[in-house]
Formats: sequence, C-alpha cells, structure tokens
Amino acid sequence: MNLETVTTGACFAEVGHDVMCVDNDAKKIETLRRGEIPIYEPGLADLVAQNVAAGRLSFTTSTAEGVDHGDVVFIAVPTPPNPDGSVDLKFIEKVAREIAPCLKGYKVVVDKSTVPVKTGEKVAETILRYAPEAEFDVVSNPEFLREGSAVADLMKPDRIVFGSNSDRASALMKKVYEPFVAPLLVTDINSAELIKHAANSFLALKISYINAISEICEASDADVELVAEGIGMDARIGRSFLNAGLGYGGSCFPKDIAAFIAISEQLGTPFDLLKEVQKINRRQLDRFVERVRKALWVLGEKRIAVWGLTFKPNTDDLRCSVALDLVERLVAEGAEVVAYDPKGMERAADLPVGPKIRLAASPEEAALGAEALIVATEWPEFARVDFRRVRESMLSPLLFDGRNLLDPATMRKHGFEYHGIGRGRER
Ligand code: UDX
Repeated sequence: MNLETVTTGACFAEVGHDVMCVDNDAKKIETLRRGEIPIYEPGLADLVAQNVAAGRLSFTTSTAEGVDHGDVVFIAVPTPPNPDGSVDLKFIEKVAREIAPCLKGYKVVVDKSTVPVKTGEKVAETILRYAPEAEFDVVSNPEFLREGSAVADLMKPDRIVFGSNSDRASALMKKVYEPFVAPLLVTDINSAELIKHAANSFLALKISYINAISEICEASDADVELVAEGIGMDARIGRSFLNAGLGYGGSCFPKDIAAFIAISEQLGTPFDLLKEVQKINRRQLDRFVERVRKALWVLGEKRIAVWGLTFKPNTDDLRCSVALDLVERLVAEGAEVVAYDPKGMERAADLPVGPKIRLAASPEEAALGAEALIVATEWPEFARVDFRRVRESMLSPLLFDGRNLLDPATMRKHGFEYHGIGRGRER
C-alpha cells in the first residue's frame, strides 16, 4: 500500500465515508492495523489513528471483502516504469482481473493510479473478460497530492477532476467528493487520464525553464531569484515551481515525463519538448558537479559535507532523489562524503551507497572538517544553523547551495565562498 492509498483512504474516512483499504501484503496490513504508518508523511499517522478509532477506516488483505465493502472501488496501485520509460501496467491489469469476479451489484471502479491515456478502456475490457455479467462503470480520477503535504492537498484540494462516460457513475462520484470544498471538473475518461500527465509535465517544464534561465544568469551575471520573482509577478505565469536548483526528482516527475514521452510516441504524436525538459534537468546536476570539481580540482580524498538526501523536504522519500544522485557521483570520484538528512538517513543506510558514506547526527557534525559543504535538499532547518560556527569548523570555506536556500550576502559575511544556482558571479 502506497502513500496515495493510505492518505486517500484516511481522508475519505475523515469526511465521513466508510473506507476499507486493501493490500495483498499481509505484513503491511498488520502494520497499519497496529496504527503504524510505514512512511513519513506529516499528519497522516494521527489521521489514520483517529479514523480507525472512529470505526470509519479498516484494512484487509481480502479483495473480495474490500470490493464487497464499497459502492465505489478505487484502484491506487503503483504504475512503475519499464526500462524504455513506458508505464508497466501489470499491477492495474492484475487488480482488474482480481476484482472482476468479486463485483456483485453495480459498482464504480475508479482508477486513481497515474496511467497512460486509454487505460480506462483496458480496465473495462479486462473486467468484462473475466466477469461478462458484471454491472459497473470505470472512472478515471487523477490524484494531484504532493508528498510532504499529502493530507492537506487531499483535504483542501485546489481542484477535483474525474473522467466518466456514465451519468450513474458521475452521480456516485459527486457524492464521494461532496464533502470536499473545491472546484470540480468532470470530463470524459481519456481527458482525465491526460490531465494528470499534462499537469505533471507542465510543472516539470516550469522547473526546467527556470533552470535553463539559471544557466543564462550564471553566464550573464544576473540573479535567477530576481528573474523568477519578476516573471512570477505576472499572474499568467505565477511564482510557484520556478525555484531553480539541482533539478526535479521524486517518484512522480521523472517517471511521468518519461511515460508521457512514450505515450505520445505510441500515439504517433511525439512530444519532443519534454525531451528537452529531461535534458535540462540532467544538465543541472552535471553543471553543479562540474562547479564543485572546479573549486576543489580533484574530488578524490576530499571530505565533502552534504546536507539533504531526500528528493525534497518534509519527506523520507529517496526515490529518484537528485541529492542522492549527487552523493553517488561524489563517491564515484573518490570523495569522502559525510551526509545528514532530518528524515532520510535510515533509508539511505540501506541503499547500495549507504556503506560508502558516513551519516552524521546533525548538520554541524557533517560539516566538521569538511573541505566543502553542499546543500542538496532545502530542509528549512538548514537555514537556521549557526553558520559562523559551521564555517569555523570546516577545513575550507566552500559552500555550494544547490537549492538557493541561503542568502548569499549573509553567507559571505560569515566567511563562506558562496556558490548558488544562477546567482551571478558576485551575489
Ligand atoms: C508532484 C506533483 O507536484 C503532484 O501534484 C503530483 O500528484 C505528484 O508529483 P511530488 O513528487 O510530491 O509531487 O513533489 P513536488 O513538490 O512537485 O516536487 C517534485 C520535484 O521538483 C522535487 O524534486 C522538487 O525539489 C523539485 N522542484 C519543485 C524544483 O526543483 N523546483 C520547484 O520550483 C518545485
């Protein structure tokens, strides 16, 4: 059971629905029944506990029991990438097969996983193949929650989108979402499926856009933070997702962009703009490593402190984390990496790179004796450390701010040689 399933289940229960979450992993279900949440997500543990106690949220390993429980059955299984970037739909297909014989009476089968356009049609075909008499409609209901703010995103969404080709299913879906105060957009199934990929790739495009600008800023001695502020003041553009940095990571953007490229190619309408988005994203890390290398000349045998390992703050998720890619590159060049992350260390220790780095107990400890300090994830607490002390404890004053978290002038005042992303030569 992934973050989306547990959070969606808990939030539906919170607004008064009677929810049963199903997973075939008995260990996971046991953990959840004990009230333990296997992932770090602010507010989720309390929400689950309250709703379990109130009798509105339960967990089972039985598909039949789960399907029987609801009028609406949400499919929220993972959709991992194939090696070529296309989406592996085997889990969706398996669920469709498994729920088919359990469908008694009319049900709405809702696809919440991020899937390529036209998956809804396949789900309906599959269910009918295994249960020709089943009475159901398929609905696509893309999810826009972000890790780290999943509960808030679900309880107060900025929009609810679902795609349905049936009035009966639409009426039931409206009842499901009635308690949530948000603009509702009802579309056909294919459009709803496309909305998810189109939204995520547009956000990734915004990030790559500002990252490309950051490169121009570095070449022209301009400050990307000011440029972002200036263009973001145009309401048509907006300031959000214009934070220049090491690039986007996580379990969604890299996978979804690759999937959208693959889908567009399969449809005969290649979306080449997104290939450029990917290229810029990769280049941000290349350029950053190059700058560290330029300052230290040789990375081998140099002690480098890295603050942040997760793909973004407020999560313990390390999947496709650019911070982790950076650590791997530094290690590959022989650097001695000492890392600190507020939530990601336990998981990092279990990764192949884990034994090759040292994990410190605090940001200050990580920086002790380092020849360079890198901010790789913008955890707000990193901005609150005593930088004068940190600077004094380091062997040399090199500070690379991969997320533009810190104020360059203040850092220079503390004696650092500050290198941000796209912040000109002197700022
Ligand atoms: C994303 C979408 O925001 C969400 O709507 C969708 O449902 C799932 O994918 P998430 O992966 O949790 O959510 O993280 P998000 O906050 O979008 O950040 C993704 C990556 O982009 C992170 O690595 C983050 O550091 C990076 N990012 C984000 C930037 O580099 N600059 C920005 O301005 C914003």
